[in-house]
Amino acid sequence: MAVDLLLGLQWGDEGKGKIVDVLTKNYDIIARFQGGPNAGHTLEFDGIKHVLHTIPSGIFHKNALNVVGNGVVIDPVIFKKELDALKKFELDIKSILLISRKAHLILPTHRLLDAASEASKGKAKIGSTLKGIGPTYMDKTGRNGMRIGDLELSDWKEKYRALANKHEAMIDFYDVDIQYDLKDLEKEFCAAVEELKELTFIDSEEYLYQAQKKGKKILAEGAQGSLLDIDFGTYPYVTSSNTTAAGACTGLGVAPNQIGDVKGIFKAYATRVGSGPFPTELFDEDGETMGRVGNEFGATTGRPRRCGWLDLVALRYAVQINGVTELMMMKGDVLSGFKRLKVATAYTYKGTEITHLPYNIEDENVTPIYKQMNGWAEDLTKMTKVEQFPKALNEYIAFLEKELEVPIKIVSVGPDRTQTIHR
Ligand code: GDP
Ligand code: IMO
Ligand code: MG
Repeated sequence: MAVDLLLGLQWGDEGKGKIVDVLTKNYDIIARFQGGPNAGHTLEFDGIKHVLHTIPSGIFHKNALNVVGNGVVIDPVIFKKELDALKKFELDIKSILLISRKAHLILPTHRLLDAASEASKGKAKIGSTLKGIGPTYMDKTGRNGMRIGDLELSDWKEKYRALANKHEAMIDFYDVDIQYDLKDLEKEFCAAVEELKELTFIDSEEYLYQAQKKGKKILAEGAQGSLLDIDFGTYPYVTSSNTTAAGACTGLGVAPNQIGDVKGIFKAYATRVGSGPFPTELFDEDGETMGRVGNEFGATTGRPRRCGWLDLVALRYAVQINGVTELMMMKGDVLSGFKRLKVATAYTYKGTEITHLPYNIEDENVTPIYKQMNGWAEDLTKMTKVEQFPKALNEYIAFLEKELEVPIKIVSVGPDRTQTIHR
């Protein structure tokens, strides 16, 4: 049985949490493959609004197990808070949530290092969520990291001490004003680790292999988005993992020839939180309207998201890199009321028109070329079937399908689980 993927195609926050929740009824296992608590995946159902950071978005369904894969980085302190927030739902967490022994741990000093690194960059800061993501992946690739499996060994605290000591020296090196009380942070960390150790740790690649052999249906849940990918995103304004399809293979131990559908999610417009280039960004009333109507504030940090028109140059690139087989368009309802919509179809780059994403997409290098389209006035949020769609929305969808050469299978018209229209 092939493993299907679900990935964000823009700069994150496309609505991955919502769609994973909608699709979980069709799957036996939901597996997160990269990122960590920098992610904020929002689910809305039965009047409940819930944000998940590290725990897969299938957690509210009785039929599915949830795996945190080896490619994920886990902060025990934030994980504990996530577990606390789930307590009122009376889920049997020990049986439905399985954690890879090979997932890396975010230490309190990783968070401090993130803050020190950002402070040292001044205006050039990445706009990190400051959850320690970069420093943790640096220790992973530097072969210094601590993993979940280490917590099962009696000497884990010694290993922790050696790494934390090294981090403290590195924080001093940055020579920035970071106030912290490591003793307090360590107390909180150790308490959270003890709680984490109560959960189920597994050799997740073997587990997923056996599940596949038994015909179990697996959906791999991505975090962030393709333009934040460490290799293919707008480097250095990216996150520290491969957010694209290949990341699911390394982040779960699934072979490339075992990948099935690649479901790509995008917003009907574009947003970005944090620093970095954003060619179609709006600084006018239209951008302000998108932010207000779309409630565009980060689910993890609460920061306002920058808003702009849909960028087909960037989206085409993401479709290509990921091998997307079906698309899902989110937040079309937010565009209701715009008389005219714009979609970037190409860029002017060094005086010539190009349709691929070049090495540099800063404002001084690219100018988007827009196609104007008719907007729609109708409120989409109460619509339940495609037949109710206004003509202009159908035209918008048809144009995107033609440009991207991939069918749009789901149109989301609101944050709730039920506001999802299959085509
Ligand atoms: P994720 O990180 O990709 O899971 O996305 P986030 O949860 O960070 O951000 C998406 C936001 O949009 C959340 O507040 C969702 O509740 C909301 N949302 C998702 N789909 C829709 C939609 O179709 N319409 C509207 N208005 N909101 C949506
Ligand atoms: P989800 O899964 C949107 C952004 C940060 C920053 C950059 C690096 O909810 O879509 P990091 O903390 O990884 O060092 O930050 O990446 N970023 C996200 N933006 N959604 C996310 O996750 C993000 N995770 C990281 O804002 O610009
Ligand atoms: Mg998010």
